[in-house]
Amino acid sequence: MSISKKSIQQVLETAEIEDVVGEFVNLKKSGPRLKGLCPFHNEKTPSFTVTPNLNMYKCFGCGNGGDPVKFLREHEKFTFIEAIEWLANKYGITLEKTVYSDEQQQKYKEEESLYIVNSFAQDYFVKQLKETDEGRKIALQYFKERGFTEATIDKFGLGYTSDAKDNFLQTALNHGFKEDTLKKLGLVSRNYPMDFFRNRVMFPIKSVSGKVIAFAGRIMGNHKKSPKYVNSPETEIYIKSKIVYGIYEAKKAIRKQEECLLVEGYTDVISLHQNGIENVVASSGTSLTVEQLQLIKRNTPNLKIIYDGDSAGVNAALRGLDLALEQDLNVKIVMLPEGEDPDSFIKKVGATVFRSFMDENADDFIFFKLKLLEKDADDPVKKTAMIKDIISSIGKIPDPLKRNLYIKECAQKLQIDEGILIGETNKVVKAQVFNRQKEYNRQQREKDRKRMMDAKSAKSSDPSFPPEPPPFMEGEEMPPEGYEGGPAPDEFAPTPKTQDRPSYFKEKEIIRILVQHGDKKLLTEEMTVAEYVVAEIGETFEGFEQEDYRAMALFCQECVGQSKPVNYKTFSTHETDSFREIAQELVISKYEMSPNWLEKKDMPLRSQPVPEENFRKDTIREVKNLKLAWLKKIQRDLGKKLAHLPKNDLSDEMMKLLKTKTNIDKAVKDLTKELNQVIL
Ligand code: CTP
Ligand code: MN
Repeated sequence: MSISKKSIQQVLETAEIEDVVGEFVNLKKSGPRLKGLCPFHNEKTPSFTVTPNLNMYKCFGCGNGGDPVKFLREHEKFTFIEAIEWLANKYGITLEKTVYSDEQQQKYKEEESLYIVNSFAQDYFVKQLKETDEGRKIALQYFKERGFTEATIDKFGLGYTSDAKDNFLQTALNHGFKEDTLKKLGLVSRNYPMDFFRNRVMFPIKSVSGKVIAFAGRIMGNHKKSPKYVNSPETEIYIKSKIVYGIYEAKKAIRKQEECLLVEGYTDVISLHQNGIENVVASSGTSLTVEQLQLIKRNTPNLKIIYDGDSAGVNAALRGLDLALEQDLNVKIVMLPEGEDPDSFIKKVGATVFRSFMDENADDFIFFKLKLLEKDADDPVKKTAMIKDIISSIGKIPDPLKRNLYIKECAQKLQIDEGILIGETNKVVKAQVFNRQKEYNRQQREKDRKRMMDAKSAKSSDPSFPPEPPPFMEGEEMPPEGYEGGPAPDEFAPTPKTQDRPSYFKEKEIIRILVQHGDKKLLTEEMTVAEYVVAEIGETFEGFEQEDYRAMALFCQECVGQSKPVNYKTFSTHETDSFREIAQELVISKYEMSPNWLEKKDMPLRSQPVPEENFRKDTIREVKNLKLAWLKKIQRDLGKKLAHLPKNDLSDEMMKLLKTKTNIDKAVKDLTKELNQVIL
């Protein structure tokens, strides 16, 4: 089932940004806005603002911003539907459900069947462990020897599977499960009708909500030929890079203790749990991915990584951990004594000593790296490389205060002038900010280009539409970003005069004005911006090239006709997805980073919302621009018609056309003059 459009609209209209954000962030009133500490990056002074009349939040430090749904998606990592459900629950709205499409239903059924089969397999492995002689004698005995209690075995759903060739397969087939599904899940070998997991103790891998999504099997005894662990293959429900082992069992403790421990092995997680340390997950021997880090960050920003005392790959693993810094996690590292892993160490020294060892030996990630690299400090070439390495790590930290602290400390430890370190780090930071900004600009351009291309192709397939010389050629001219508070200009992109902008951008500006200022008074109390725009250029709306803008403009015309206000909310709560998306995009782009951020010393950037009063000038200018483009189009059409008539035709029609042409020519000339463009 999915939620009806009507219900979604009702939720979007009801949800108030200050309410929603207020549940997670401590907000204080500041003029027409509210301020608080940004939950998306670490900061000491609040640059996170909530603007109730726009129903938006925005952080001027990290750039995150959007409506209530966006906030929930970012903060709680909800899907759109989950966010809607959460809001409905908060505001006591009953959601109307509609039935899934066949395709959706099919997909849902398939996923559901994978969960069902896994759950069946899980029961099977547990029964094999507890209810067969072999299981009790071999596997249960093994777990007992490792010190796992019955409660621990149950908590993690541990199981066993014997060496028999196809015991599981036959049982599953008898229960009516399809061989294909069993193969897909890796429970049965791909090439032979044989159990995939044999002679192994089984560790179910669970999703965040506790469903079994995959298995890991550890071999019994020392079979040199087979690998110690084998794992299920990836499926729709098991994507390795998105999950960490133990998250379901650990998440409560992680939140409560505001820290997540990360170990290497499955057995380490289980062993620590049994000793009362429950805020622990395992990376399962691979290096961490961004998604795994984000999963952890949903629960806490504090990550403590515990490396085995003999970990060969620490150096390599550390490099990957710059990712964690980028995610603004506070990363600490503990190296266990030589030859120990968390499981063996806690067994040896007990929970109390283990805990205090962790506290005493937790090194800040950067300093840990420094220590490792210090071994080479005598070699000047190596020392330079090492300093570069450290600087690039420090540069990844989004919080400037935190960065400064590290620089101070490193300068001291490395005995390097602090100024030099700051200068070098700033270079790295600038490059990164620059890249991020470039990426943002690229995405924006890509969006514009796509919409514009859509508009062009829609137009060319519509023969009734008058052709227009294309002022925007692909690759020749860049969209005029950077004007009026848009994103920072790309140095290399020419910024065309507003009159030269292709229709697409003129339309976009009109929509932006309607979204942002539609219900404000233009010059007198009598007229709003939307009423003015509709009165002046309403007749051109039907001819808008870009489909979404055309629909939005026509909808606005309808609102004006019914004396309904036109503002951000009009579009941001509309049932049409593209209306909401475009409205948000247009409002957010207003607050993008200031163009000269590179010159500013105090990074990260501060943004500069454009002064509100400009909207009057903007409105009048953009309406004129669009009108001019429209008149020019008519002028061209007239010119063509006249060219087709015989030269000395003095018919009424000719006279009428000539008269119209004179009027239009004059209007074009006047308007152009008003817009300060010289005609040649
Ligand atoms: N691992 C794996 N495949 C292997 C070996 C290891 O997937 N062939 C992963 C497993 O997730 C394992 C982790 O790497 O848990 C750490 O490996 P190791 O320390 O060897 O395993 P332990 O979990 O400590 O297992 P045990 O204590 O039973 O030896
Ligand atoms: Mn181990």
